[in-house]
Amino acid sequence: MAIQIGRKAEGSFREPLQLLSDCHRRIERFLQELIHVAEQTQGDGLNEAYRDELDTALRYFENAEPLHTADEEVSLFPRLRAKKNEEADRIIATLEADHDVVGELQRRIGQIGRKWLEQGYLEKQELRELLEKLYFLRTTYHQHIGIEDRVLFPVAATLLSAEELEAIGREMADRRGVSFDTPPGTRCASRRAKQGSPK
Ligand SMILES: [Fe+2]
Ligand SMILES: [Fe+2]
Repeated sequence: MAIQIGRKAEGSFREPLQLLSDCHRRIERFLQELIHVAEQTQGDGLNEAYRDELDTALRYFENAEPLHTADEEVSLFPRLRAKKNEEADRIIATLEADHDVVGELQRRIGQIGRKWLEQGYLEKQELRELLEKLYFLRTTYHQHIGIEDRVLFPVAATLLSAEELEAIGREMADRRGVSFDTPPGTRCASRRAKQGSPK
């Protein structure tokens, strides 16, 4: 199966590899929004638009992105490991190490971002740390997502059966508390039960 990069319409749970790739576009978008707010305001007072942008992006990384990591670590990677394919095993080891790095970066970025929302400004040192971590996260994700989109997912498409892909899609839907046949639109988002979750 060819993985299409950058197309507008999102894949369905019946196309889990495409959907995982679609989620990458959201990660990139919300990360860029965090960088945009930090660069534009330089940690000064947030107007309503910047406050909304910051809050929405922070909530994406708190609630929705962890579901994407679980899609990969719980649903995709173990099924690929079961194939005992050397190339896939090597790539997955690198990707899992990346997940630890981005998880820690996102945790710290979330702490600083929440503090910013609460007190309304950042000290210079906090802004510096926030921007450093955001730029490092962008670089790490750029490499990580590139490997997943261009190497691992195409390998997965050749190794996994239609039944295995469907099982992954069903697990992804369950993880978000939605039906396997839910129409397009919010599939990368966090569980439907959470109010105000980012799209
Ligand atoms: Fe990943
Ligand atoms: Fe990913």
